[in-house]
Amino acid sequence: MSEIVHRTMGQQSGRRSWAEPWKIKMVEPLRMTRREDRVKALADAGCNTFLLRSDDVYIDLLTDSGTNAMSDRQWAGMMLGDEAYAGSRNFYHLEEAIQTWYGYPYVVPTHQGRGAEHLISRAAIRKGQYVPGNMYFTTTRLHQELAGGIFVDVIVDAAHDPTDLSPFKGDVDVGKLERLIAERGADNIAYVSLAATVNMAGGQPVSMANVKTLHALCQRHGIRLFLDATRLMENAFFIQEREGGYADQPIAAIAHEFCSHTDGAWMSAKKDALVNIGGWLAVRDQSLFEELRNLVVVYEGLHTYGGLAGRDMEAMAIGIAESTQDDHMRARIGQVRYLAELLQDWAVPMVQPVGGHAIFLDARGFYPQLAQSEFPAQTLAAELYLDSGIRSMERGVVSAGRDVETGDHHYPKLELTRLTIPRRVYTQAHMDVVAESVKAVYDARAEARGLRMVYEPKYLRFFQARFEPLS
Ligand SMILES: Cc1ncc(COP(=O)(O)O)c(C=O)c1O
Repeated sequence: MSEIVHRTMGQQSGRRSWAEPWKIKMVEPLRMTRREDRVKALADAGCNTFLLRSDDVYIDLLTDSGTNAMSDRQWAGMMLGDEAYAGSRNFYHLEEAIQTWYGYPYVVPTHQGRGAEHLISRAAIRKGQYVPGNMYFTTTRLHQELAGGIFVDVIVDAAHDPTDLSPFKGDVDVGKLERLIAERGADNIAYVSLAATVNMAGGQPVSMANVKTLHALCQRHGIRLFLDATRLMENAFFIQEREGGYADQPIAAIAHEFCSHTDGAWMSAKKDALVNIGGWLAVRDQSLFEELRNLVVVYEGLHTYGGLAGRDMEAMAIGIAESTQDDHMRARIGQVRYLAELLQDWAVPMVQPVGGHAIFLDARGFYPQLAQSEFPAQTLAAELYLDSGIRSMERGVVSAGRDVETGDHHYPKLELTRLTIPRRVYTQAHMDVVAESVKAVYDARAEARGLRMVYEPKYLRFFQARFEPLS
């Protein structure tokens, strides 16, 4: 495993400066737009940033998913794609990378995270079983529900409070989980669904102490503990920084130890693993693996490609190793913090502490005049785009969707607009542009009127819903 790299060059000499451990070899031009162009583009997109054309966007902070810049090593790996239908050598490289860095013996590739969520939900949930998790994630919960599961949020209360400064706001509240087990019976719990970090809570980490306790509790009751490892390396960075006993351990070792307390994991490799497409599912139990390996053939592709090209698996294998490097992670989270600090200087309301992959602006803090049914976070995303062509995304009532039983909106406590930072893509100067735009929108906050939804698709509505401004 890699040696820990403690400091950047500037920091070694006690200076403030830090910098990325890479330089830029290829650039992609960006298009500047005028305000009148953006007004038209936003109207055409039904005020939904997911429906904008990327050519109409200047700085794209919609997501960190699949938007990463690959390294020269990864691009070289793409040329080594073994595009065999069966038994591609790139699959075996990927399998070895997952076994080495995450420690699970049995690996199934999938085209992206939700492909893996689909398979694990089908294989591990019986209709009517409960699936406790540390806050929901949109696609994760939907697949659990489609498989007949009932999601129950067992995250600590602090996660729902954007001002709470607790260091591990992704932790499961063990008391809540124990009560659920006592009330429903262990046999009625499909598995515990643990995400690290927790996207919807603002990229908040889970502590090692929490996963250890959960593991022991689950083992006592014969319940499996599965991990959403999409941003586990970022989670490991926070453990190294904040949890006693880990300061001198490399991120790679911390992530490996974290996984050792779980029965399996799935991953959207489009995040931590620095690729544009890919995912996987990996477990310790051989019979579960046999079932997953069979299911993947039905829904994704043969078990040695899972919907991916050989070259994609190669880039993923290389990206996984790069994601474990301490100096990479320090720069990645350093950039998120740089933007956060600029905004904090102007007292812009946001989720605290700042998480790993994004700044989550607190839309209720921006627009106290708007009811949640007037979509404050969606409004804020629209205003930011109009101001400067920056694309963000809603993480509030629209993303939360509707209750499957009652059909009512879920009204989450957090009403957030996410500025998600792709890995190795934008410069510090881009972050300055973003900060100034957010400040301008914050200064004009009293003028915001809110939105109404005029089209609502059945599943994952935040992707395709359309809105109109309220006058
Ligand atoms: C925590 C988490 N889990 C799962 C997913 C789903 O992965 P994908 O978008 O690759 O299907 C995402 C994507 O944003 C995510 O953030």
